[in-house]
Amino acid sequence: MKRVLFCVALIALLPGLWKTGWVNAASGNGQQGTTPQKPTSTSAPASSAPASGYVGSDTCMTCHADVAKSFPTNPHSRLALMHDGKGVTCESCHGPGLAHVSSGGDVTKIFRFGTASTKEIDATCLGCHAGAHPNFNRSPHAKAGLSCLSCHTIHSVENEASLLKVSQPTLCYTCHTDVKGAFDMPFHHPVDEGTVKCSDCHDVHGTFGRNNLKSTVDQNKICTKCHVETRGPFVYEHAAVKAVGCLGCHTPHGSQNARLLNMPSINTLCNQCHSPVAGGTFHSMNAGSSELTPCTSCHTMIHGSNLNQAFLK
Ligand code: HEC
Ligand code: HEC
Ligand code: HEC
Ligand code: HEC
Ligand code: HEC
Ligand code: HEC
Ligand code: HEC
Ligand code: HEC
Ligand code: HEC
Ligand code: HEC
Repeated sequence: MKRVLFCVALIALLPGLWKTGWVNAASGNGQQGTTPQKPTSTSAPASSAPASGYVGSDTCMTCHADVAKSFPTNPHSRLALMHDGKGVTCESCHGPGLAHVSSGGDVTKIFRFGTASTKEIDATCLGCHAGAHPNFNRSPHAKAGLSCLSCHTIHSVENEASLLKVSQPTLCYTCHTDVKGAFDMPFHHPVDEGTVKCSDCHDVHGTFGRNNLKSTVDQNKICTKCHVETRGPFVYEHAAVKAVGCLGCHTPHGSQNARLLNMPSINTLCNQCHSPVAGGTFHSMNAGSSELTPCTSCHTMIHGSNLNQAFLK
């Protein structure tokens, strides 16, 4: 058990370690343009050895003024500036540009994302971002052939914070049209309203869980980070909350039923597990009244209580 916990802790730490790794690597580079660029590199742009074939961003900008114009506000160059202009440069992504420059702009002598394969693109980006997104290659998105550039763009961003081509949820709906309907239902998480984002519950870069769901040791945490009042621990836990999780009773996207419940009738929902109780005379209810009075009109603290074993208060 201890060992399992240790492993979990280690996995949780990894992104942090990686991140520190590449940030240091970027800042440690001796001069502008020395960040090595190999589409096949797997972890960090680590080497600080003087690299040949690099010319530096200033040279690129002499011919690509249009691209360069918008670049100073890009998160990539903000970091470059922070580190004394030695961070991410044009050539960190496009590779060494000397041959391209001396040929007067031969497009075959520079790494072009437009003609590169999905694999090459992802490897280039993951060369720096694998730390934050170690699971991308096993994600349903990677398996379906998407690349980073299916959702991100570097030079023509709409959502600058995360360099998205289009902001959420529109971005997601362009492919997941089937999901859109759920958020039009009478009861739904306010995603279209902008209060909740798809990425509050999903990590589209891949996780260990199903459905790209953010994975935590306790799956209910996806929900309880916002719905703290349901989290507990309670003196009297409702075993169902831990056993089947929030999704045992609720639908995550949208529903015809109030409170996003899985079933139109609360009593039917409860009776999946509690039918002997509801059918008896204990509650002074006969078969008819159990349909009329929702269980939760008495059992109000349905997620657990600190005061009453039957969750009456
Ligand atoms: C001497 C001028 C010049 C310099 C300096 C230069 N380029 Fe170019 N570059 C060109 C020309 C010309 C083209 C072809 C233009 C076109 O097809 O739109 C081109 C094309 C490109 C393309 C491919 C564009 C596409 O449509 O696929 C990329 C990427 C690129 N350059 C990046 C760079 C980078 C990075 C640097 C700095 C290392 C750089 N360039 C420096 C002139 C230059
Ligand atoms: C973080 C990686 C990255 C950096 C840094 C970067 N580019 Fe790009 N570049 C890309 C990607 C990805 C594309 C493909 C189009 C897109 O997604 O915006 C691209 C496309 C281009 C193109 C083709 C024209 C186009 O818009 O499709 C040119 C030219 C270019 N980049 C030049 C530059 C120059 C000059 C710099 C430095 C000022 C630079 N790039 C910095 C990733 C980068
Ligand atoms: C040479 C290393 C390097 C490469 C290659 C690189 N990035 Fe970045 N990226 C960075 C750094 C550094 C930042 C700024 C991070 C920060 O501000 O925390 C950044 C920022 C970002 C951000 C915004 C993060 C934020 O929180 O604002 C996105 C999205 C992103 N990169 C995507 C990409 C994509 C897509 C590619 C491939 C086309 C790519 N990057 C290639 C180093 C790199
Ligand atoms: C299916 C769409 C999609 C794909 C594919 C995708 N991303 Fe993202 N990415 C997003 C969204 C959406 C966000 C914003 C997340 C948020 O707001 O919490 C994001 C955020 C980021 C960030 C900044 C915040 C963070 O979580 O670190 C980086 C860096 C990043 N992506 C890099 C990449 C790289 C590298 C790839 C390819 C290996 C990639 N992304 C593929 C949709 C995508
Ligand atoms: C370019 C198209 C595209 C975009 C954009 C896109 N996806 Fe996907 N997504 C797919 C494909 C293809 C799959 C894999 C096939 C499938 O399961 O539907 C997938 C799978 C998923 C899955 C896993 C489904 C499962 O059954 O395991 C989730 C969750 C998901 N996407 C959420 C998102 C979110 C959230 C966004 C927006 C941030 C997004 N996607 C943007 C195409 C896309
Ligand atoms: C409140 C959390 C939450 C939000 C917000 C959310 N999802 Fe989900 N999503 C889930 C959960 C939980 C599941 C798994 C459902 C299951 O196991 O029955 C899921 C399943 C999925 C699936 C796979 C199953 C299916 O229904 O097709 C896709 C695709 C998906 N979500 C896309 C999205 C998109 C796109 C958005 C934003 C428009 C979004 N989700 C917003 C929690 C959320
Ligand atoms: C990013 C924060 C956030 C996350 C994560 C989240 N929710 Fe919500 N949830 C909300 C907001 C905001 C509302 C709308 C509240 C309102 O309209 O008063 C809501 C509404 C609900 C409602 C309906 C409440 C009512 O009074 O009708 C239920 C049930 C619910 N969420 C369950 C879940 C479940 C289950 C999950 C995990 C799959 C989850 N939520 C994840 C923010 C979140
Ligand atoms: C055993 C079934 C069940 C489980 C499991 C469950 N809920 Fe509920 N939840 C309900 C019922 C029934 C209601 C409606 C109560 C009412 O109508 O008064 C509700 C109401 C809610 C509400 C609306 C506000 C409130 O407290 O009345 C939120 C938010 C909510 N649940 C979130 C969650 C979250 C998050 C989880 C997982 C930690 C969860 N629920 C697990 C049955 C359940
Ligand atoms: C997924 C199965 C499941 C569902 C659905 C469910 N419960 Fe439970 N419930 C349990 C389990 C298991 C226990 C613990 C049983 C025990 O301690 O005897 C429990 C305990 C209780 C208790 C406390 C019993 C005691 O004496 O400690 C009450 C009251 C209760 N549930 C009411 C409800 C109500 C009301 C609903 C519908 C909103 C509901 N339950 C839905 C499984 C479920
Ligand atoms: C009119 C109020 C009321 C309604 C409606 C009600 N209950 Fe109860 N329930 C009670 C009271 C009072 C107790 C006894 C609490 C105690 O023992 O302290 C109880 C006890 C329970 C217990 C624990 C009893 C045992 O046998 O351990 C369960 C389980 C339970 N109720 C489930 C349900 C379910 C399921 C429904 C809906 C079909 C429901 N209740 C509807 C008032 C109600």
